[in-house]
Amino acid sequence: MISAFVVYSKQFSRPINELAQLYGQIQTALAGAERIFAVLDEESENKDGDRNDPVREGVIEFKNVNFSYVPGKQVISDFSLKVEAGKKIALVGSTGSGKTTIVNLLMRFYDVDSGSILIDGTDIRDVSTDALPI
Ligand SMILES: Nc1ncnc2c1ncn2[C@@H]1O[C@H](COP(=O)(O)OP(=O)(O)OP(=O)(O)O)[C@@H](O)[C@H]1O
Ligand SMILES: [Mg+2]
Repeated sequence: MISAFVVYSKQFSRPINELAQLYGQIQTALAGAERIFAVLDEESENKDGDRNDPVREGVIEFKNVNFSYVPGKQVISDFSLKVEAGKKIALVGSTGSGKTTIVNLLMRFYDVDSGSILIDGTDIRDVSTDALPI
């Protein structure tokens, strides 16, 4: 009698436990879906300039560039550099000196605070992304 009672009560409680677990999983899935749609609904940044004529040579020039990620904490100050077309150059410096930042600025993940970055003499902020060879 006792063993039958134990077996039956387990059979009775198992599906109830499973339902409770399932409800938890559904809640987690809903929270996840909400975040996924928040990302999908994000407006794309329109950073395109008007210049559509393709970049010909690819001379890159940084002119007196100043930049900070956090206002007041200058990362790049008065940086100038000219790279001739087709040249390979290396940026060398201690960690945190701003090497990756230079590349981030060139890729327009961020825009300079002052000064300019030119490609074939045109400010990269005026060039459309379609005009850039990738
Ligand atoms: N997204 C960011 N927000 C705020 N500060 C940042 C950000 N990225 C980098 N920094 C700061 O900017 C400075 C330059 O960082 P950067 O990553 O350009 O250095 P790095 O020369 O590439 O260093 P490493 O040799 O370690 O790669 C550092 O002081 C860093 O803490
Ligand atoms: Mg780096």
